[in-house]
Amino acid sequence: MTIVITGNPGVGKHTIAKEISQKKHLVVIDINEIAKNENLFEKNDETNDVDTEKLKEILRPKISTKSIIVGHLAPYVLDKNQIDNVIVLRRNPYDLLDVYTDRGYSEEKSRENAGSEILGVTAFDAINQFEEKVVEINVSDKKIPVVEKIEKVISGKKDSEQIDWLELVTKNDDLKKFFVD
Ligand SMILES: Nc1ncnc2c1ncn2[C@@H]1O[C@H](COP(=O)(O)OP(=O)(O)OP(=O)(O)O)[C@@H](O)[C@H]1O
Ligand SMILES: [Mg+2]
Repeated sequence: MTIVITGNPGVGKHTIAKEISQKKHLVVIDINEIAKNENLFEKNDETNDVDTEKLKEILRPKISTKSIIVGHLAPYVLDKNQIDNVIVLRRNPYDLLDVYTDRGYSEEKSRENAGSEILGVTAFDAINQFEEKVVEINVSDKKIPVVEKIEKVISGKKDSEQIDWLELVTKNDDLKKFFVD
């Protein structure tokens, strides 16, 4: 079983991956940590550009059938045939703003990341790369624990959820809150 947990910054990837890894006895492969250790990030202002081709090659031999691979870069550094399931965590953009405030992100960085979640950038890129192996999960809905949902995905018993933050934000008349500079 080779699982990928991806999604925009702050959706809860690492928190969830840790729980799943313990429950399913999987080894966590942290894409960002590997990229950092290999000095693949180019620092410029607040954005981190990474050499995805190099990262892809470094990751390849580390992936096994007992891996849970975590990171928002997953769609750009993994191939469809390397993995079984890709879970894209989706989180309410209003909750994300709180996470970013706690992390001390600037207003610009917060908006950029929350905006990216509203538009579903990571989900779009994941589907582009991994196609039918992708399942989106809403982690904002507290009724069903995320780990439970992921276990269902792994056993093939759960389809992707329909998530449309753009509709929610538009209905709340909050487009300016997220998209005006
Ligand atoms: N299911 C959840 N419900 C509520 N809060 C959560 C949940 N999962 C994670 N959190 C909280 O959300 C914040 C972000 O979680 P986490 O650091 O795991 O996100 P991440 O996706 O790994 O972020 P990054 O992309 O920056 O690595 C943390 O404060 C964490 O405690
Ligand atoms: Mg994290």
